[in-house]
Amino acid sequence: MSKVVFSGIQPSGNLHIGNYIGAISQWVKLQDLTESIFCIVDLHAITVPQDPKVLRDKVLEVAALYLACGIDPKKSHIFIQSENPNHSYLAWVLNTIAPFGQLERMTQWKEKSVKHEENAGLFDYPVLMASDILLYQTDEVPVGEDQKQHIELTRDLAERFNKRFGETFKLPVPVIQKETARIMSLQNPAAKMSKSDNDPLGTINILDTEEQIREKVKKAVTDSDPSVLKMHEHMNFMMEEHQGIGNLLTIYAAFKGYNFHDAWKENSDKSYQDFKDGLANLLIFELAKIQKRYNEIRNGEKALRKILDEGRNYALEKSSVTLRKVKEKVGLI
Ligand code: AMP
Ligand code: TRP
Repeated sequence: MSKVVFSGIQPSGNLHIGNYIGAISQWVKLQDLTESIFCIVDLHAITVPQDPKVLRDKVLEVAALYLACGIDPKKSHIFIQSENPNHSYLAWVLNTIAPFGQLERMTQWKEKSVKHEENAGLFDYPVLMASDILLYQTDEVPVGEDQKQHIELTRDLAERFNKRFGETFKLPVPVIQKETARIMSLQNPAAKMSKSDNDPLGTINILDTEEQIREKVKKAVTDSDPSVLKMHEHMNFMMEEHQGIGNLLTIYAAFKGYNFHDAWKENSDKSYQDFKDGLANLLIFELAKIQKRYNEIRNGEKALRKILDEGRNYALEKSSVTLRKVKEKVGLI
C-alpha cells in the first residue's frame, strides 16, 4: 500500500513563492509516489477576521493555484476543509485530551495572539490541524519549517489517544526540505516570507505582475559587502551571515531546480544588479507559466467545482472510517 500524504494551506492573503517553494513544489513531487490529499483549510483561515466574500473567492483561488502549480487531480485529491464536517468533529474529541500548557507553548499562537484579538479558535488551531492529519491515517506531512511544532503536537495527541483508548491513529512525520524550508522576506531577511507581512515589497506572490516582480527583486535587501557572491559558497554560512543574498540564491536555486551550490556557481562572478536581473527574469518566466494555467482553470469554474466535489467525496469516505473507530473507542454513538 502506498504512503498517505496530507497537507494544506489557508485561503487567507495571497499565496507567495515561500508557499510554492516550501510546500506546493514538494507536493507535486510526492503525488507520483503516494496517495496524496491536499486541503484548502478555510476553517483555519477564519481564526483571524476574514471578509466573507473575499474568503469564498480565495478558496477557489487557492484550489486553482494548487492545480496551476502542478497538482494533478488524476493523482491527488483536493478538497475544501469545511466541506468535510469530520474535521471539526474530531477536533472536538481531541480537544478533550489536548494539554492546555502544550497549546500555550505553540510559537504560532504566541505570535498571532499578540497580532490579532485573542479567540479560542486561534488557540485551538493546532488541534484542528491534528484532526486534519490524523483522520486520513497520514504517513507524511510535507510543510515548511514553521509547521514542525504543530506536527509534533499532532503526534503527541495521537499517542495519547492511542494509549488511552487503544491503537487508533497512525503517527505522521513531517517532511521538510532542508534547503527551502524557510524562504525569507526580501525586505527583512531575518523574518520569513509571510502572507501577513505589512511590507508588500517583502513577498513575491505567485500571481504578481511582471512589474511587481521586477520592482520587488530590484529593491530586495542584499549585503553591504559587494563581494559576498564571489567569496562565499556555503549555504549554511550564507544563511547565517549574509542572509539577504543567501535567500535570493535559495529562491534562484528552487526555481531552476538546482541545489544551492550550483546556483552559487552560476552567479558567483556577477554583480548584485546582474544577479537580480537574472533572478527577476527567471521568476517572471516561471510564474508566467503558472499564471497562464491559473487563468484557464479559474475561468472554467465548473470543472474546478467538479474536482473539488470528487475530492470532498473521497475525503468524506476515507475520514469516516477513522471517525467511526474514534466514536466506538470513546463511547459515542
Ligand atoms: P501558510 O502561508 O501559513 O498557510 O503556509 C502554508 C504552507 O507554506 C505551510 O506548509 C508553510 O510551512 C509553508 N510556508 C509558508 N511560508 C513559508 C516560507 N516563507 N518558506 C517556506 N515555507 C513556507
Ligand atoms: N497550519 C498550516 C499553516 O498555517 C495549514 C494546515 C492546516 C496544515 N491543516 C494542515 C498543513 C494539515 C499540513 C497539514 O500553514
